[in-house]
Amino acid sequence: MSRIVLYCRSGFEGECAQEISAHAAGFGIFGHVRALADSGFVEYVTTSNQTDEQGLARLAQPRALIFARQALPCFALMDQLPVHDRITPILGVLRERRARYSEVLIEAPDTNDGKALAPFCRSFGSALAGAMKKARLIDPAAARRLHAFFPQGDKVYLCSGDLAHSSPWPQGIPRLKFPREAPSRSTLKLDEAFLVLLDEGERERWLKPGMNAVDLGAAPGGWTWQLVRRSLRVAAIDNGPMDVALMDSGLVTHIRADGFRWRPPRPVDWLVCDMVEQPRRVAALIAQWLGEGLCRHAIFNLKLPMKKRYDETHLCLDLIRDALGTRADVRAKQLYHDREEITAFARRA
Ligand SMILES: C[S@@+](CC[C@H](N)C(=O)[O-])C[C@H]1O[C@@H](n2cnc3c(N)ncnc32)[C@H](O)[C@@H]1O
Repeated sequence: MSRIVLYCRSGFEGECAQEISAHAAGFGIFGHVRALADSGFVEYVTTSNQTDEQGLARLAQPRALIFARQALPCFALMDQLPVHDRITPILGVLRERRARYSEVLIEAPDTNDGKALAPFCRSFGSALAGAMKKARLIDPAAARRLHAFFPQGDKVYLCSGDLAHSSPWPQGIPRLKFPREAPSRSTLKLDEAFLVLLDEGERERWLKPGMNAVDLGAAPGGWTWQLVRRSLRVAAIDNGPMDVALMDSGLVTHIRADGFRWRPPRPVDWLVCDMVEQPRRVAALIAQWLGEGLCRHAIFNLKLPMKKRYDETHLCLDLIRDALGTRADVRAKQLYHDREEITAFARRA
């Protein structure tokens, strides 16, 4: 029996469970899921004993999953830990395993109960790291990080996070600071999307000063602000008013028009879209822009319906994949700054 722990947004455990089951089945691996509503995490347990470490590592790839912020192979589950000394039993398991780790992260779910554990996580993190150093279990050159995930104070999942494939951020959440000059909090969504959906090389190649972008549903300008910050020229499409300081940058043209009808006079490098609309309608629009070569790259938000959120997500993304055929490059994530929504990137490769 092998186990994977996945961190997700509280309330999306069902979607995360559906997704990991489908993902595993795609590799011929079967298992069952343990997920409590609003717990902020999901446990996937394979039924076959044959799932080796490599098989497990293929499953635990948060980049391939939309609803999981983090996915980690778990090598020990310990409960009823003595709260006056959790270190001794944990260290016992680690010593027996003999693996070394580049660092240790003490984590809790992203829920109110999990937040209450934050002070414990901080102090226990320093204590465990100190004990592991003494036991020579820390090696800065190691290829794996130790994640000690506490859903409650006396229960821990010990997981190993492959540096190449797991999310590098504690709890799988990139901590972004809200820029004071940005016109809206939505700005963090696009900032996070660039960070999570593109790698460093792609950000450098695909987001260059002087490139042209279109922002559909731009007002008051949080997403446009992120593009302007990277010195792109932006056509901001919205009937609503744009932030005045942002317009003073000289890089923004505000066009009061319907984002579903407006088309650019010539192809642009980027299309971004945050219009509050039915996800299928947005997906069809993105498919059209990319399919007709009106833009080279697109980042868009899909507001999910109340029910069948998993099915709707795949229906929308498949619509875009079908339009782009074999050259489709479509990536999606429920970002930390997304609520009942996901954010996706698409291009023709
Ligand atoms: C969530 S807000 C966008 C926030 C923006 N991304 C930001 O960071 O400030 C959605 C915007 O979409 C606009 N919108 C909705 N339907 C639209 C349409 N058909 N055409 C143009 N804009 C539309 C609304 O006016 C609203 O300003």
